[in-house]
Parts: sequence; C-alpha cells; structure tokens
Amino acid sequence: MVLIEDFEWEDLEEVSSTNDVAKEKSLLYKNQKFVITAQKQTNGRGRRGRDWIGLEGNLFASFGLEVELRYLGQFSILISLSLFETIKKYDEKINVQTKWPNDILIDEKKAIGVLLEKGEGDYLIVGIGVNICNSPKNENLLYEASSLKDINIQTDRISFLEKYINIFNQNINHWNEFGFEILKQKWLKNVYGLNEKIVVNMENEKIEGIFRDIDDNGTLLLELKDGVVRKIYAGDIFLMKEKR
Ligand code: BTN
Repeated sequence: MVLIEDFEWEDLEEVSSTNDVAKEKSLLYKNQKFVITAQKQTNGRGRRGRDWIGLEGNLFASFGLEVELRYLGQFSILISLSLFETIKKYDEKINVQTKWPNDILIDEKKAIGVLLEKGEGDYLIVGIGVNICNSPKNENLLYEASSLKDINIQTDRISFLEKYINIFNQNINHWNEFGFEILKQKWLKNVYGLNEKIVVNMENEKIEGIFRDIDDNGTLLLELKDGVVRKIYAGDIFLMKEKR
C-alpha cells in the first residue's frame, strides 16, 4: 500500500471514471482517507451531467474522505482554495483565480474542475480533473480551457497530486482548528467576478445580478436589480460583458 501523507493512494492504468472506483472503495473503508488516480479515464463526468474529456498526461483523481454533509459547502470552498494555492506554489505570478462553485481558472480559462459526489456512509468523493499538459480545444466547450503547460509550467500529474495533498491537509487542519472564515476570505480575495455583473445559468432559469459574496455554506449571494439578495445553490456563472 502506498501512502501520500495520510492518503492511501492507488494509481490505475485505465478506468471509466475515478469517481466510480472511489465510490466502490468507500463501501469497504472506514476512517481512512484515500485517493484513486488513473493514467487514462475513458468516461469522465463533469458537473451537471457534462462529460470531462480525459486527455493524456492530465490528472484524474478522486479522493475519499469522511465529511459531514452539513459542511459540504465549506469543504467545497476549501478544496477550491487548496487547488488555487497549489498552482500558486509553482509560480506566485500565475494569473489564477477561483471560480464559484469550485473551478480554477488560469488566464480566465478553465484549468481545473471539481465534481463532488456522495460515497458510502459519510464518505465524500472529491473528483478533480487538472489540465496538466493538455487542454481540450473544442468550440462546444462551455468555458474555454487552459492547462499548466499552456503557461509554460512543466510538471506532471503525480507531482501536482503530491503538492495538492500537502496543501489540502494543511487547509483541513486549519479549518478544524480555526473554522471557515479565514479560508473563505482567502478564496474570495481571488475569486472571478466578485462585485461584477454575472449571469447564472441554472437548471430551469437564467438570472442576472451582481456577485456580492458567499455565505458560510458556500452559497453564492447574488444582488438582483431591485436590491434583493438571492441565494444561488447551484449553477454555472458567466461574466456579463457590457456592450459598448
Ligand atoms: C467539472 O468541472 O465539470 C468537474 C470535472 C471533474 C472531472 C474529474 S476527473 C476525475 C474525476 N472523475 C470523473 O469522472 N470526474 C472527476
């Protein structure tokens, strides 16, 4: 058994989705953090029923750890902040941003996506796709994509994983000791679209407003035209470019 810090790590050659493998594993485990990675992922899932394209050399990782459901929103922000900080470790000058709910942008293009799913018992499955050396160039993408290689950062999926686990663990310890507020402020400081006009695409609705804040559940607070603040629990956000 291989450990990266306190995560039991298994690297598989080819899977359909690392999240599925992690879910199965959560049936057999208790009180053990683990992470599954795969060199090839053939049927990766994204948020809201989308596909995640599994390009060679990129990181496909699914973490299994026990988190109480009521802290899911806070934990989602903690994950996103940890990914942000991992990228900054390569070079402080990289133009990286967090994006609600938990994506990571490099030069305003999506470089990392996170898919949270429920495992067995209290296990949360945290699926992370990181564009290490390849980014899909497809006109049908919801967001333009970038990779670390696109900005001349040479690394590989395992080095990134090790760096990430180190920062992730530090943030978990910080959260356990001091709570959510400091992590939330760090995440907000670097978030895409704060205090700007955005449009939120939800399942059956599209609304516009100003992205004002997130609350202690990671819920987005959107100020509508009439000043009313609406809570957004799920959706895709886009900046509204003013027409000149
Ligand atoms: C998104 O932004 O839509 C989330 C993408 C999450 C992709 C990762 S890759 C590893 C894990 N396995 C999956 O099938 N999906 C996640």
